[in-house]
Amino acid sequence: MEIKEPGETDLHKLLRQMTLEEKVGQLNLLHGAVDADHTAIRTGAVTGYLLGPPRWEKDQAFSWAAQTNALQRIAVEESRLGIPLIFSRDVIHGHRTVFPIPLGQAASFNPELVRECAEIAAREASAQGVHWNYSPMVDIGRDPRWGRVAEGYGEDPYLCSRMAEALVRGYQGADLSSPERIAACVKHFAAYGAPLGGRDYDSVEVSERTLREVYLPPFQAAVRAGAASVMAALHDLNGVPMSINHALLHGVLRTEWGFTGLVVSDWGAVADLLKHRVAGDEAQAAVLALQAGIEMDMVSGLYNKHLVELVRDGTVSLELIDSAVLGVLTLKKKLGLFEHPYVDPEREKTQLLTPANREHARRMAQQSCVLLQNKNSLLPLARDIRSVAVVGPFAESKAELLGTWTLDGQAEDVTSIIEGIRETVSQQTRVIGGGMHPESAVAMAQEADAVIAVLGEHPTRSGEAATFSNIGLPPGQLEMLSQIAQFEIPVVCVVLAGRALAIEPLRRFADAVLYCFHPGIEGGRALADIIFGTVSPSAKLPVTLPRAPGQIPIYYSQRSTGRPPERTARYTTKAIDIPSTPLYPFGWGLSYAQFSYSNLRISPELATDGQSIIVLATITNTSPSPGTETVQLYIRDEVRSTAPPQWELKRFLRIELAAGASSEVAFELASADLGFWQHGSSWRTEPGLFTLRVGPDSQGGITGQFKLLEQN
Ligand code: BGC
Repeated sequence: MEIKEPGETDLHKLLRQMTLEEKVGQLNLLHGAVDADHTAIRTGAVTGYLLGPPRWEKDQAFSWAAQTNALQRIAVEESRLGIPLIFSRDVIHGHRTVFPIPLGQAASFNPELVRECAEIAAREASAQGVHWNYSPMVDIGRDPRWGRVAEGYGEDPYLCSRMAEALVRGYQGADLSSPERIAACVKHFAAYGAPLGGRDYDSVEVSERTLREVYLPPFQAAVRAGAASVMAALHDLNGVPMSINHALLHGVLRTEWGFTGLVVSDWGAVADLLKHRVAGDEAQAAVLALQAGIEMDMVSGLYNKHLVELVRDGTVSLELIDSAVLGVLTLKKKLGLFEHPYVDPEREKTQLLTPANREHARRMAQQSCVLLQNKNSLLPLARDIRSVAVVGPFAESKAELLGTWTLDGQAEDVTSIIEGIRETVSQQTRVIGGGMHPESAVAMAQEADAVIAVLGEHPTRSGEAATFSNIGLPPGQLEMLSQIAQFEIPVVCVVLAGRALAIEPLRRFADAVLYCFHPGIEGGRALADIIFGTVSPSAKLPVTLPRAPGQIPIYYSQRSTGRPPERTARYTTKAIDIPSTPLYPFGWGLSYAQFSYSNLRISPELATDGQSIIVLATITNTSPSPGTETVQLYIRDEVRSTAPPQWELKRFLRIELAAGASSEVAFELASADLGFWQHGSSWRTEPGLFTLRVGPDSQGGITGQFKLLEQN
């Protein structure tokens, strides 16, 4: 019988029983559980599988629960130590119930709803045997050429941080060992969202200050919320590939932030070190990554191929291996896999795509769709309108509404936009439909009382490896619109997109514009709800919309320059062929209601460091319709030792207001909200004047000031 040493946990005891080969096997994650190598499972040479590829297209009866249980049984019953496998997947915006893409979810400014959607995704994915999810992606995206802006939560570190926490809590809940929970993996650590030219995987050059103030906060928020794992990114940051970035993986993540979870490489990233030319051979790549803090190797196989030998020849210490193995075993333990390794196959039959899940998808889509303009209050349209033409390339689309990362979404689950509209309008209304081709669209539009043109980009234009240099509308769409515009019929443009497209030319031909991102399975119904006024739009832009691709990067919190843009002064910060303002600013979004802001109060007006600042404002719905407003609080440090951002979002709150109603909104700011990164050391605040703005977006609202006093 094994004797437990004092202070030893069960996992330490297990570790003592493991051979070196079995230990290294725990660091080796492979892909493709369907063709899994049973010998590798039996001998303990694999820790688990990234589930893939999707099966439903080939075999509707395929059961992931049965498949994962069968493999798990081999691990638990036939391997020497019976260590369970871990199964992972990318469940990025829903599992079988597909929600709007993350960028669309960010537009809701509703972390609670986002948390609920993540909880549903966890329930569905875990019912099919998934334990570990490669989400949330919390990379700040300020360059819409980069296709992965679709997978993130926009340009702003504060908004992205709130979403990061919500997602971690939604996936993991209070008890990760509950069968309906999955482990989060926050990615891609760090600053992956700023590649040169927006080209996915390209080098990133960001200053320490920008890294600290912009790119790292969402990761820290996710870690604070208890994220069980972190994925290192594929790129090099200021010359150091993230898979060997000891300073960030250890110095910041472990030492500064106290992260105790698992660090995994991105797909094949250990092998990529050869192509980065920081490792001369495979063995060196494995050593460098492990020493930098990558505990699990995702699919490159190099740990498994080389680490045993490298320990035997003394290049790698056994302590390092043991510590990585403990990281993996701890995650499996937290997930409860040692106690309940199998998934109940009944759950797969009952918990996917339930009516309640669909209802959440509809609510999320309603809150993800931003009303950019609404000339002459064209929207909402009357349900008993005589005829409406629903035209454009995505009018009848199903699969295209799903968006970029939808391994488990199925086109047949989707309500198309034309179907959503047909369900919503009166029986007398004629829906003239489906003008996918420009000529038929124009012919159909001619016959209608209003036109709904569904435009934008196909989801394959966004997501991983989908960099686009021309982020305007795809060819043909403007031409179609310009022909429709000749008839002087009211036109509603619905834009589906995975990024901030440059859509300025479209505004000439559109009375109303709804920017919907890719809205998921219930997008069609949610849009009809908005267009015909069942709900009032409430979303706000989580990214700045540029006027033209050449304006990129453009974001609301740019630093104050010595030559602020002035239209008539030549030697100022701007392009001379285009206004310096965006097409629509961050935070922008209209409602069918109108809101006014008044009575801003800040207390104290003279504050000492460490004292909270309370901000109160009154918001009034001045219209005859109810509506929801997202009240946003921005600050501006008037003078400090490093050029500050022009404005910074610090708080937001969604409030529902009945027609004519008022509400007082209260925000509390802490000293930490006023700080900035002091190069090479830490956060600090400086005394002086701060301006606050409470408003409907990053440009409007009411302002007031307070002063942070010198410390005695
Ligand atoms: C992506 C990750 C993803 C992983 C596994 C990589 O190519 O960068 O975001 O989680 O593949 O699918």
